[in-house]
Amino acid sequence: MNPKFKPLFEPFALKSGVELKNRIVMAPMTNFSSNEDGTVSDAEVNYYVRRSDGVSMVITACTYVSSNGKGFHGEFGADRDEMIPGLRRLAAEIKEKGAKAVLQIFHGGRMCPPDLVPNGDVVSASAIASEQEGTVVPRPLTDQEIESIIRDFGESTRRAIEAGYDGVEIHGANGYLIQQFFSPHSNRRDDRWGGNLEKRLTFPLAVIDEVKRVVAKHAKQPFLAGYRFSPEEEHSPGITMEDTLRLVDELANRELDYIHVSLMDFWSKPRRGADDSKSRLEWIRERAGQRVPVIGVGSIHSADDALKAVQTGIPVIALGREIIMEPDWVKKVIEEREGEIRTTLTKEDQARLTVPDPLWQAIVNTPGWFPIV
Ligand SMILES: Cc1cc2nc3c(=O)[nH]c(=O)nc-3n(C[C@H](O)[C@H](O)[C@H](O)COP(=O)(O)O)c2cc1C
Repeated sequence: MNPKFKPLFEPFALKSGVELKNRIVMAPMTNFSSNEDGTVSDAEVNYYVRRSDGVSMVITACTYVSSNGKGFHGEFGADRDEMIPGLRRLAAEIKEKGAKAVLQIFHGGRMCPPDLVPNGDVVSASAIASEQEGTVVPRPLTDQEIESIIRDFGESTRRAIEAGYDGVEIHGANGYLIQQFFSPHSNRRDDRWGGNLEKRLTFPLAVIDEVKRVVAKHAKQPFLAGYRFSPEEEHSPGITMEDTLRLVDELANRELDYIHVSLMDFWSKPRRGADDSKSRLEWIRERAGQRVPVIGVGSIHSADDALKAVQTGIPVIALGREIIMEPDWVKKVIEEREGEIRTTLTKEDQARLTVPDPLWQAIVNTPGWFPIV
């Protein structure tokens, strides 16, 4: 290895006792390829196996915790005990290749397509549709239903423990239910779950507390809990950097193993609520201080990109699209072949890259998503 890349290969110990062997992890990415009944498919196991022998941790695609939280066709579930055998197989195959396996737990809320949830009953904090085309006006959850979804996050965590995962990542990002409760756009409630910033934090923090409670009760070995969030929303009202820095303060006091900032561009600057003298990640890292480590992500492609990113003080870097395009990313850096890392795709690469059909179709048919040459 070129010695300058050594900082990428230093181990990193998390609070729970889980140790990462290097600083590169696979970002959570939906692959649309699970079985119709929500169980893990052979194709997706193969896809993960191909990508698990270099990175220190694989965060698997988001997984619904409640039957009314399924957000994608071909998404796998953790909402019932029957799902445990498939989850166990996926975790075992990832770990066999040397990476930690982390389950991203999720509820889609108002972003769920009606045909994926029982009786087409799409739910959220309030009856406000997303501004994204094709979404519906959701039904506001009752107090009891909210409590029940919080327990579902706990139950999915218990299933992840039983299935042999090394941890869970709470998906509080990308506009899904947890973010819907935090956002002033989607949360217009005036009960204990909404009304002001403090109250909009109630649901996300209750989910964290429940997950931590379940880990303390059930985990026999170190088991991590991370939290992912999106720092800003573009619409108004919407989450601003000011709201996010307040969220970071709360997260940092909750003994999480990490916070993971969901971004398409690692270097992006604040839009509202903080000045643009620093990147969003720099603001967040500064606020988190020594209290909780931050994972950064977004358009990191080359080994030099990753090195530059860790040199900003962000200890762990997630690769998303890049690890689809280059499953041997870590291996090539170790073997001093970083110049051979592929950062583009061709339409003939599906078999070579072991990508399941539904994900491949999404890749080749979504303009601007992947650099196809
Ligand atoms: C195909 C695809 C599926 C994704 N699915 C998820 C997901 O399930 N959960 C999540 O938190 N982020 C998801 N993301 C966002 C990625 O984790 C990541 O933040 C984003 O792709 C930017 O990183 P990159 O530039 O390295 O790809 C997805 C991204 C892609 C490209």
